Amino acid sequence: MTQEFQPTPDTRPRILIVDDEIVNIEVLRVMLERYEDYRVFHTSSVFDALPLARRLFPDVILLDVMMPQKSGFMMIEEIRRSESKLARVPVIVMTAASEEEIRLRALNLGANDFLEKPFHIAELRARIRNNLRIKHFEDELERQNQQLEQRVLARTAELTRSRVEIIRRLGKAAEFRDDETGQHVARVGAACAIIAGRLGLPAERIELIFHASPMHDIGKIAIPDSILLKKGRLTPEEFEVMKRHTVYGADLFRPLGHLNWDFLRHQPTRADSFDGHDQPILQVACSIALNHHERWDGKGYPHGLAGEEIPLEGRITAVADVFDALMSDRPYKKAFSLERSLEIIKEGSGTQFDAEVVECFFASLEDISRARRFFADTTVSEKTPAP
Ligand SMILES: [Fe+2]
Ligand SMILES: [Fe+2]
Repeated sequence: MTQEFQPTPDTRPRILIVDDEIVNIEVLRVMLERYEDYRVFHTSSVFDALPLARRLFPDVILLDVMMPQKSGFMMIEEIRRSESKLARVPVIVMTAASEEEIRLRALNLGANDFLEKPFHIAELRARIRNNLRIKHFEDELERQNQQLEQRVLARTAELTRSRVEIIRRLGKAAEFRDDETGQHVARVGAACAIIAGRLGLPAERIELIFHASPMHDIGKIAIPDSILLKKGRLTPEEFEVMKRHTVYGADLFRPLGHLNWDFLRHQPTRADSFDGHDQPILQVACSIALNHHERWDGKGYPHGLAGEEIPLEGRITAVADVFDALMSDRPYKKAFSLERSLEIIKEGSGTQFDAEVVECFFASLEDISRARRFFADTTVSEKTPAP
């Protein structure tokens, strides 16, 4: 069996010489190739120099700044402005000792070092070696930063995954308290995401709504069984208690603040240690739990917000939740037909619901129906934990 030829990558430092004097290039090339193990590239055209540098990513550039056509100063500027790793390449400017002004200008533009003409081999080797060492450390630092960044990204993704998972399980826990069949919240989540997509919301926000909306009734875990599980209609007093599930739910998702160990030393925690939400998913879950029973006409609860005062997530969940509730059997009612349920939603447009959200709901009916079939109800026994 023949083995495929794999060339070993040439890791020798790459030096790019830019000088309009061919003689200078030759002298430098011979010196560098004879005394050091470098790969030497060169050009006498300042116009070719930058494209060549972009292609090669040299480790050091030896640059003559006084060239016809276009000055080497411009090249320094363009290198330093570059958005690639080229911006960090050391530039050694070749000048005569007397050219003070040129040196200062080159330095201000970002040149790293100078090499005096005529060239001395010892100085040339020392300066290149020093600049290569600095470049090596910078490259290493950059590599470590990138690794660190990747690790942070991976950790953040992992944290988000576990956070979403915990929130979903919290929702599951609430389902066990309720008499609703398990899939209601999943269907609401899917319908909300579909409507949000139709409204043209960005993908990130759709995902947040998808994960957060199934938690809309999480506050029901704080409602007494006698009310939550009551067969038949609630009395007005009981209904007032039931309405509190919105506020309880929002409270569950409010920030807890950092754990202050002073508390354990019997010193009360200070209110200002209570930091704001830095978790978008908790923020959206909080908003949905609080606002999913608000009405467009301001007759909803808990705060009687109206129109666009109600956060959009809440307006979307209101439609998705009511539709699914209408289509489902509940302790106090049988499921409505699809036609009747759609009629009720349509009747609520502009009064109970945001008309634009209702429009998007109707425009997405096919997708919502498909999601409803996917998350069809399981039987109650499947929900019951094994003895
Ligand atoms: Fe609710
Ligand atoms: Fe619900």
